[in-house]
Amino acid sequence: MGRAFGASVAESLGKAGSMIDGHTKLAGVMGWPVEHSRSPMMHNHWCRVNGVNGAYVPLPTRPEGFDQALRGLAAAGFQGVNVTIPHKEAAMRACDELTPTAKRAGAVNTICFVAGRIIGDCTDGTGFCDNLGAHDVAIAGRALILGAGGAARAVAAALLDRGCEVVITNRTLERAEGLVGALGGGEAVAWYEWPSLLSGCSLLVNATSMGMGGKPGMDWDSALREAAPGLCVTDIVYTPRETPLVLAAQARGLRTVDGLGMLVHQARAGFRAWFGVDPEADHTTFDLLAASLR
Ligand code: ATR
Repeated sequence: MGRAFGASVAESLGKAGSMIDGHTKLAGVMGWPVEHSRSPMMHNHWCRVNGVNGAYVPLPTRPEGFDQALRGLAAAGFQGVNVTIPHKEAAMRACDELTPTAKRAGAVNTICFVAGRIIGDCTDGTGFCDNLGAHDVAIAGRALILGAGGAARAVAAALLDRGCEVVITNRTLERAEGLVGALGGGEAVAWYEWPSLLSGCSLLVNATSMGMGGKPGMDWDSALREAAPGLCVTDIVYTPRETPLVLAAQARGLRTVDGLGMLVHQARAGFRAWFGVDPEADHTTFDLLAASLR
């Protein structure tokens, strides 16, 4: 798998690279480590299919060098960058300006360099909602969010801002309470309580790291026992695409949305801002990413 993935990144960069010239617009992803990121593959694919003279490169950036690297990329004429683990909070502090969405999410994942200024946005929440929209899932009613980390915050803010009733639960209750306080909305409940709340929910979101690598982390089947028939279950984990939660929900006949679409939809705003084209979240994009996950 590692070889296939490495080869396909090299191939996608190679193809983008074949048209690099003095007019090529540059963007990339800052992370540490960053080699696992699927963003170069996705953005270079979009450059190719949209005929954009652009290239998107991995930018392995040590935490202690983040600010210097960010300013350097701005000075070197990059259009902007994505920011991933562990830099999402540091990026907030390093930006000259933040969008209201980034402030609310408490993190930055997309940065634009505009007229010498570094502007930070967070597109995770919008990406999450756009992915649900692409699956015709209504963003309404009561949403139960598992987790209280950075991903949970972006999702909770987006759902609250779109009028959902939001319930946040976390293994460590204080973090859920802290999130509700920071967002000025929603309700925090104890972890043991959440399965019993499912009968009144329209959406269940796993925003914990449980399920990564296919490790269940808990007994999802029992936890879903009280689910209302109309419940939509979604996971932000996409490695594997069919997480233990998604599989348990499917086995119960519930509607599911996997996490890969959030990755695709959160990327679109950055591509649009840097390269001036709205990329399509089409099946070739999904096929490319899905193949890299196998
Ligand atoms: P991120 O910023 O990517 O969301 P994070 O801040 O490390 O990552 O948050 C991970 C989330 O997964 C947290 O909500 C964490 O719960 P705690 O706050 O109690 O640590 C949750 N999590 C991780 N492993 C878990 C497990 N085995 N059971 C329940 N929750 C778990």
